[in-house]
Amino acid sequence: MANLQEGGSGEHIWSRRNLLGVGGWLGILGALHAGGVAMVALLFPRVLFEPPTTFKAGPPSRFNVGEVSERFMMEYRVWIVREEGGLYALSGICTHLGCTPRWFGAEDKFKCPCHGSGFRRSGVNFEGPAPRPLERLKITRSDDGELVIDKAVKYRHELGEWAKPGAYLKYSRASV
Ligand code: FES
Repeated sequence: MANLQEGGSGEHIWSRRNLLGVGGWLGILGALHAGGVAMVALLFPRVLFEPPTTFKAGPPSRFNVGEVSERFMMEYRVWIVREEGGLYALSGICTHLGCTPRWFGAEDKFKCPCHGSGFRRSGVNFEGPAPRPLERLKITRSDDGELVIDKAVKYRHELGEWAKPGAYLKYSRASV
């Protein structure tokens, strides 16, 4: 009797109460499922795995005074410039539209092949449409004495940032 629809002809096995009960349970199961999915998603946070921004460049003595090293251009787009009193790292990204300039040692300048911007070895722009100097990148030494370049930390000359610690690493043979 309880399984027959109230007032019905007996064709329906499920009563309205049964249907409501099943619907309720389905709702609860659905909510539990959604909650479970959310919990599992929490265990696997969406993280962008990007390449590390820092790299080691070996000991400072590896670089000769007066050298503009291109050893790290292919992999990191970074020049390392050695002077008598220290070193700095220059970003190989043109400040006009982002092309990669080339180093012309004989002319002592970087030249961008895209629109002709020129930069001195310091990184300062002097010709073409580039609106500002190349950026310098953070250069420090690790505990084991190697140079460490951090591409995520940039220093802009026009903002007076080249004078900041990290934009230039003082180094001389005597300071090994
Ligand atoms: S991108 Fe270098 S001059 Fe335009």
